[in-house]
Amino acid sequence: PTGQLLDSRGRAVKDLRISVTDRCNFRCVYCMPKSVFDKDYAFLPRTSLLSFEEITRLARLFAAHGVTKIRLTGGEPLLRRNLEQLIEQLVRIPDMEVTLTTNGVLLPRKAAALRDAGLRRLTVSLDSLDDATFRVMNDMDVPVAEVLHGIEAARAAGLGPIKINMVVKRGLNDQEILPMARHFRGSGHILRFIEFMDVGSSNGWRMDDVVPSGEVLQRIHAEFPLQPVDPNYTGEVAERWRYLDGQGEIGVISSVTQAFCSSCTRARLSTEGSLYTCLFAQSGHDLRSLLRAGHSDAEVSAVIGRIWNSRGDRYSELRTAETAALPKIEMSYIGG
Ligand code: GTP
Ligand code: 5AD
Ligand code: SF4
Ligand code: SF4
Repeated sequence: PTGQLLDSRGRAVKDLRISVTDRCNFRCVYCMPKSVFDKDYAFLPRTSLLSFEEITRLARLFAAHGVTKIRLTGGEPLLRRNLEQLIEQLVRIPDMEVTLTTNGVLLPRKAAALRDAGLRRLTVSLDSLDDATFRVMNDMDVPVAEVLHGIEAARAAGLGPIKINMVVKRGLNDQEILPMARHFRGSGHILRFIEFMDVGSSNGWRMDDVVPSGEVLQRIHAEFPLQPVDPNYTGEVAERWRYLDGQGEIGVISSVTQAFCSSCTRARLSTEGSLYTCLFAQSGHDLRSLLRAGHSDAEVSAVIGRIWNSRGDRYSELRTAETAALPKIEMSYIGG
């Protein structure tokens, strides 16, 4: 199929976020708290995961529906064995931009192979420069130096400038907003501050824990004056700001205080091959069984088209204390 595939609110599908593993070597308190993701937690068995062939086949079908950007996520995507082979296949799809979001720890080992496979840029999550705070947040006692090495390895491999994602949780790492801004100013990398969200059911989210992006900007602006920058493209998630003194730009991602659902063009493919039309969807659409039952490309494509056509999601515009308490799919499964 060609032509514009639109959902019930007129939104096209342009980005496909694919979770390649539900496992992670971190236990970030806002994402995979140890109380839930402990040694008894049942991660998916290998046969449940989509194979690289299955992922690539679906990616091509989404491309025909208008997707031009794929982001590999998890869990920690670099834990998926031979990930570079998947990247090699995905970058061959015409006009497809392929990127990934990682916690960075495996980059010193993997950056060169990722670049050789055709990856051109990536995003690294980093919530604090203070070692003690960082260890508390990842809850696996990983020192911050490992992530900083990962960022340098990615830059050295030609994968920069790199976007750095910082999830801000009040009382946990908001004192790190300014140190992070100071550190990455002038580095060429782009630091983005993300409002803590009520994804999943295990992170104990409360509105009081959210530091509104407006407050983040005020705190930085007081030390380093900022000015807004136009979006790179319509529907860009991060709002861009530049330092007046020319030391680069930052971004804020305000899904709680300034929902961006009206321009949301993102589809998510879970580790097991279920299609989710929203990060906060309560259930997905099983595409894997269609593939494994031997349906043709045309049939699977038509199913994807029907699912997208009937999409009406706008969770962040509707969020209340009540919806925040509802059971939801974990981010490590559905893909950030
Ligand atoms: P680039 O512009 O290519 O960097 O993509 P991006 O801004 O989507 O970057 P990234 O994938 O790193 O997303 C940053 C963060 O924004 C994610 O980790 C999520 O926390 C949040 N986010 C991304 N997409 C959505 C979305 O559709 N809904 C909500 N509520 N949050 C999102
Ligand atoms: N709220 C906001 N961002 C989150 N991430 C994970 N959990 C949350 C949450 N509850 C971010 C990670 C990473 C990306 C995959 O999503 O920090 O940057
Ligand atoms: Fe792992 Fe990323 Fe979740 Fe942290 S935020 S537990 S690094 S998937
Ligand atoms: Fe898109 Fe759902 Fe996020 Fe809104 S809440 S921006 S619809 S993924």
